[in-house]
Amino acid sequence: MCGIVGYVGDRIATPMLVEGLKRLEYRGYDSAGVAIMNGKGVETRRAAGKISRLESVIAADPPLGTMGIAHTRWATHGPPTETNAHPHVSQNGKIAVVHNGIIENATVLKAGLESRGYVFKSDTDTEVLAHLIEAAYAGNLEAAVIEALSQVDGTYGIAVISSDEKEKIVAARKGSPLLLGIGEGEYYIASDASAILSHTRHVVYLDDGDIAVLTRDGYKVVDLDSTLQEKPVTRIEWDLAQIERGGYPHFMLKEIFEQPTTVENTMRGRLILEEGFSKLGGLNIPKEELLAVDNIIITACGTSWHSALIGEMMIEELCRIPVEVEYASEFRYRNPIVTPRTLCIVISQSGETADTLAAMREAKRRGARTLGLVNVVGSTIAREDDGGIYLHAGPEIGVASTKAFTSQVVALALFTLKLARLRDMSVERGRELAQALAKLPEQIQSILDRAGEIEEVAEEFKRASNFLYLGRGYNFPAALEGALKLKEISYIHAEGYPAAEMKHGPIALIDEMMPVVCIAPHDSVFDKITSNIQEVKARKGKIIAITTRDEPSLAGKLDYEFRVPETVDLLTPILASIPLQLLAYYIAVKRGCNVDQPRNLAKSVTVE
Ligand code: G6P
Repeated sequence: MCGIVGYVGDRIATPMLVEGLKRLEYRGYDSAGVAIMNGKGVETRRAAGKISRLESVIAADPPLGTMGIAHTRWATHGPPTETNAHPHVSQNGKIAVVHNGIIENATVLKAGLESRGYVFKSDTDTEVLAHLIEAAYAGNLEAAVIEALSQVDGTYGIAVISSDEKEKIVAARKGSPLLLGIGEGEYYIASDASAILSHTRHVVYLDDGDIAVLTRDGYKVVDLDSTLQEKPVTRIEWDLAQIERGGYPHFMLKEIFEQPTTVENTMRGRLILEEGFSKLGGLNIPKEELLAVDNIIITACGTSWHSALIGEMMIEELCRIPVEVEYASEFRYRNPIVTPRTLCIVISQSGETADTLAAMREAKRRGARTLGLVNVVGSTIAREDDGGIYLHAGPEIGVASTKAFTSQVVALALFTLKLARLRDMSVERGRELAQALAKLPEQIQSILDRAGEIEEVAEEFKRASNFLYLGRGYNFPAALEGALKLKEISYIHAEGYPAAEMKHGPIALIDEMMPVVCIAPHDSVFDKITSNIQEVKARKGKIIAITTRDEPSLAGKLDYEFRVPETVDLLTPILASIPLQLLAYYIAVKRGCNVDQPRNLAKSVTVE
């Protein structure tokens, strides 16, 4: 959500900043801007819309200088106009600020500044920061930033420059991710590493409360009391190629097609087939403590919340431990029951979702042990959890999550296998699950090889205005996820429902215009969902079924049928999700939607 990039060094800053913004565009893309120190003062260029609009503005009148900051926005306060785009400049024109996060006491601070003669040009909370820093400035930008931040409630990742200190960027973090990039005689600041990876692999992750000062000669990190902080330098291991489209028209399609590999990578070195066991090195929980856990809470948002629901069913079925799934955004506000024997599993692709991070901190505060299932290495959740299982799915750029979802479910299955085997699962059952897991990459590939069939179904239904997705048991969350994918990228209204619950409301919506996607693998609830399919058909709904075998009772009832390979019940949602991802993708493309940057969404929601 919103992207920040900054540079100080010897090179002309603007092209580098724009390149960084393009890499960050998946985080927010409603307006963008740069502020460059041109030797005399701060020069800004801003534009509403995508980065390409900003590029045209820059091309018409390029600002020259070797230091600057830039921002791509996902609007919180104020609509996405040029005036509300960052950077925001202080009243005297000397200080420019880019900001991710929300200043919660902006209204009060604004009133105070206005009474002192400051005139606001934008509707943003960020402009408050620019004026506050100006008001606090007495010859030292670092001190002014610290002073201004001491007045602020809320969250921020900021980068600030001042024309009085021409080779200095001051950055600060509280609740919004920020890292420093270390080059040779040049330094970067960015909200995520993809922005600067083409220039350096060496980064320093900032923690909440850190203030960083970058000049072309070096950097330092202090806390809000100006005490120097020691920070480890981390090497980024992934490659630029992983954040490029690699010949695919969209990141989403590339990421869907990567799933045989990404699912394999999640399992690599972790699955012990002969013993029917899994090895999870990062768990960091002694066996005795794991066995002493008496309840599990899984918390997450969005797609990750859907994988949490599948995890709940897996763990309860195979480990017989009570599991509750909580929306991370609700968790803190309802006085949850957490004890020192609670394990809190936190699922997040980005590892930065503000609500998920806050839920994890709350669970920790109440004494739970926390376990993060995170994709982005070095992200805040991954650094703050007590133990973790990295997904190793590689960077996910498409805003609609696909490969992270399947890897999350695999990681949950690995965890379930381990815990169940430590409890009372037999070696044979363990082997059966381990073997089913090992087969997934090849099975996913066999589905992807038939993507063309789904494209034809998409052609048929691209004009629908509503969709219903039905599933039971493990595939109820898959129905929710299928519906979410369609909503997110095609803007078609879609609802996921437990198939039988449909009778208590949604069935009223069914007529010959309503496509109903039924996830019906031959699992333990197959007979039940076939009855639900009959109910839909009796009302003339159009059935798109995901099945695993021939079923005589359904002959002639299915308008479209897509076969996926058979697997054990708990892994069926992984295979069922692949055609649903493809269906959403092809429908969205055929409707002319921007699949990788759907309207109003952001990849990583770093505000509450
Ligand atoms: C945003 C994204 C979703 C994602 C959710 C949770 O809403 O658009 O795709 O599922 O955040 O993100 P996380 O990174 O915590 O999994």
